Amino acid sequence: MLNSELAARLRLAFDDDRDAETFLLRLDRYGPELVDSLRAVFGDRTDDLLDTLIPVVLHAFHTRPADLKRLDEARLLRPDWLQGPDVVGYVAYTDRFAGTLKGVGQHLDYLEDLGITYLHLMPLLKPREGENDGGYAVADYRAVRDDLGTMDDLSALARDLRARGISLVLDLVLNHVAQEHEWAVKARAGDPVYRDYFYLYPDRTQPDAFEKTLPEVFPEFAPGNFTWNEPAKAWVWTTFNTYQWDLNWSSPAVFQEFVDIILHLANRGVEVFRLDAIAFIWKRLGTDSQNQPEVHHLTRALRACARIAAPGVAFKAEAIVAPADLMAYLGTGDHHGKVSDMAYHNSLMVQIWSSLASRDVRLMTAALRAFPPKPTNTTWGMYVRCHDDIGWAISDADAEQVGRDGPGHRHFLSDFYSGEHPGSFARGLVFQYNPDTGDRRISGSGASLAGLEAALDAGNHTWSEHAVRRILLSHAVILGFGGVPLLYMGDELAMLNDYSYETTPEHAADNRWVHRPRMDWARADSVKSDPSSAAAQVNAGLRRLIDARKNLPHLHASVESEALDSPDPCVLLLRRDHPSGRFLGVYNFSEYRIQLPAYALRNEVGEFALDHLTGSGFSLYRPTITLEPFRALWLTPTQMTI
Ligand code: GLC
Repeated sequence: MLNSELAARLRLAFDDDRDAETFLLRLDRYGPELVDSLRAVFGDRTDDLLDTLIPVVLHAFHTRPADLKRLDEARLLRPDWLQGPDVVGYVAYTDRFAGTLKGVGQHLDYLEDLGITYLHLMPLLKPREGENDGGYAVADYRAVRDDLGTMDDLSALARDLRARGISLVLDLVLNHVAQEHEWAVKARAGDPVYRDYFYLYPDRTQPDAFEKTLPEVFPEFAPGNFTWNEPAKAWVWTTFNTYQWDLNWSSPAVFQEFVDIILHLANRGVEVFRLDAIAFIWKRLGTDSQNQPEVHHLTRALRACARIAAPGVAFKAEAIVAPADLMAYLGTGDHHGKVSDMAYHNSLMVQIWSSLASRDVRLMTAALRAFPPKPTNTTWGMYVRCHDDIGWAISDADAEQVGRDGPGHRHFLSDFYSGEHPGSFARGLVFQYNPDTGDRRISGSGASLAGLEAALDAGNHTWSEHAVRRILLSHAVILGFGGVPLLYMGDELAMLNDYSYETTPEHAADNRWVHRPRMDWARADSVKSDPSSAAAQVNAGLRRLIDARKNLPHLHASVESEALDSPDPCVLLLRRDHPSGRFLGVYNFSEYRIQLPAYALRNEVGEFALDHLTGSGFSLYRPTITLEPFRALWLTPTQMTI
């Protein structure tokens, strides 16, 4: 319970009794989590921090616009708003999708028609000039990139989106700022307050000690994790690029700055924050400085502040980490369900590509089984492609379990998706070869990795058909898994690699731009006039998947997908036990026509099943069922006989 003296003091800050009541109730509810986590991180500096932090939260509460307060109420009445099957995400660069924020506003019919309810616009806050890691080097969190529009445009777009039931999602880059950000400028100028916002070391002693156990994120662009800065006379911690300065989250002032930024943007209409590179925000000597317990305390404390001033807001963790470390981002133990509301399911994405290459789902099955259940109030962000490269996050233990060698399989996947493996259908590019570890990550658009580019070049109709089916199968898995499917702009039109980055000076060195094309609106129009094209088939197939998903309560993210033993190594079986009944996803990851023993399905859904992807019912009371190449079935039991 909130102590009565503090409550009385806080009441004075309100003209309206009802507002005071709301604030105090929320503080009562989330205050203990906040204080507990702050103490775990900041110890006896917590009380001083609270003295300055509470006014920041209070200010945000007072200045939250009425329409967003209404949204808060609606969200409090429907806390599972991010978990339902109606939620479908879309991820796009503002400029590449529509030029400007106002331009995005002109394509809302397109998004709504596709069934989108969640729009992640890639980094759009003011970045540094020149190279900026795709916008992830932010110079000002309170301004929009000049060529995209203004903060008022952002608020207006958020409002228009909201009116159509679409939530605006923005990146919150909290591990680092651009070296041009005013905090870094002041730190360089010697201001001790701001020097404390960063990790600055006068010589190599500490950096060398840390380096012993730190991996390299960009071994080619930015080897090492520290950069000498002459004006600051210091080695600066720069995990990513040399111009991205890591923030020192052990400073309470940094925490407070970000509470202020989050609430400021929330009051502009941002509904979901993608916590960029969240795994890295706490450093500890002798470790890889990722996934440290303080990361989760800090997230829980940030979330508590958001819940008090803007409970309509949700957090999505971008933690591309091993499954064993991932669950803590959604909350384990005392933190269960109190950290981020959503996390990327990187492993699912990696396993989809791995199974497509090997035509074998046994590794995927083992990997999925190794995941403990997530908190029932949280959700996954599921994706086939995103703006980043694919790193082959395959655990040696999972590989061993199915008789594969981890390093060997990762090597195979890099060969396969760079097109070097004989018989590969993929056209990808190697991103950040690391000679020390042998890692070769892969860039490439979904369609090019799935074989469409090679098929079109060869004029091979069968290959092209296979590529279309691979794309649809992958999407069937993410749309049928339970969580928020995140469609990556252009994938709904099977857009291919875009090699124009090679001649764009600021992109040429970073081949992730090969899969960050400009939206091809002519292609979007052509799907109506030429329904036989690959783009049209993918588009129509995706729309069918989205429609089917929206009508299936079984896909609510509160229940888990469970990977079953399958009688055929090409066929993935995912079962979901929802109070509405059982759901079985059946996915043929191969170009083979599979004769699947029907008992495997009958044991799960009974004698008669309805396939929600075709709307047809069929009997499983027979020895085998034929699965066409790359066929997906979404089955539920039915009474119907045919
Ligand atoms: C995230 C982003 C990636 C960026 C990095 C550094 O991983 O997805 O694009 O390079 O963070 O901000």
